[in-house]
Amino acid sequence: MLKTKVVTSKRVSEVVSTLAAEISADLEGRDPVFVCILKGAIYFFAALTQQLTRSVVVDFIQVSSYGATTESSGTVTLVKDITVDIAGKDVYLVEDIVDTGLTLADVVALLRARHPRSVQVVSLLSKPSRRKVEVPLDFVGLEIEDRFVVGFGLDFDEQFRNLPDIWEYAPDREEA
Ligand code: IMP
Repeated sequence: MLKTKVVTSKRVSEVVSTLAAEISADLEGRDPVFVCILKGAIYFFAALTQQLTRSVVVDFIQVSSYGATTESSGTVTLVKDITVDIAGKDVYLVEDIVDTGLTLADVVALLRARHPRSVQVVSLLSKPSRRKVEVPLDFVGLEIEDRFVVGFGLDFDEQFRNLPDIWEYAPDREEA
């Protein structure tokens, strides 16, 4: 069940605008490819990239690690790869939330193997207290406590992604 609103849609918009301004300033002299980690980052990615002050290449990658659970399996499987050549490019990897860091560490390693000039990580949310591996986050929207959240792209068992606000979610007894 949805418990409490953790971040309102208004606050999300403010955070996205701040990040877009910071990243736009960082784009000077770069050859950028923005990579969205599906499916969770899709709403964040769309809102963010539309507010950048110049044209950028966009692409999508999909990995899976969670099922109908609020705990990461720790095993990341590549479901859909990017289609553009990122060799020599400046990659901005866009994630919805960094929890243990395991997903991001794997995706960063996978992309680095294609010899981009740089890889920077952009995440809307971060749960630093849950980290198992250190992954450098270059642009972070908000840090949150150790709570499972849904909405604005984030799901529980594929539900709730389309909610405009971000909510704390607790599985009902029979779902847990
Ligand atoms: P990590 O590998 O543990 O860092 O988990 C990263 C991925 O798990 C994110 O891309 C999300 O898809 C998912 N995830 C982590 N925490 C949450 C949460 O609180 N709500 C929904 N999905 C989450």
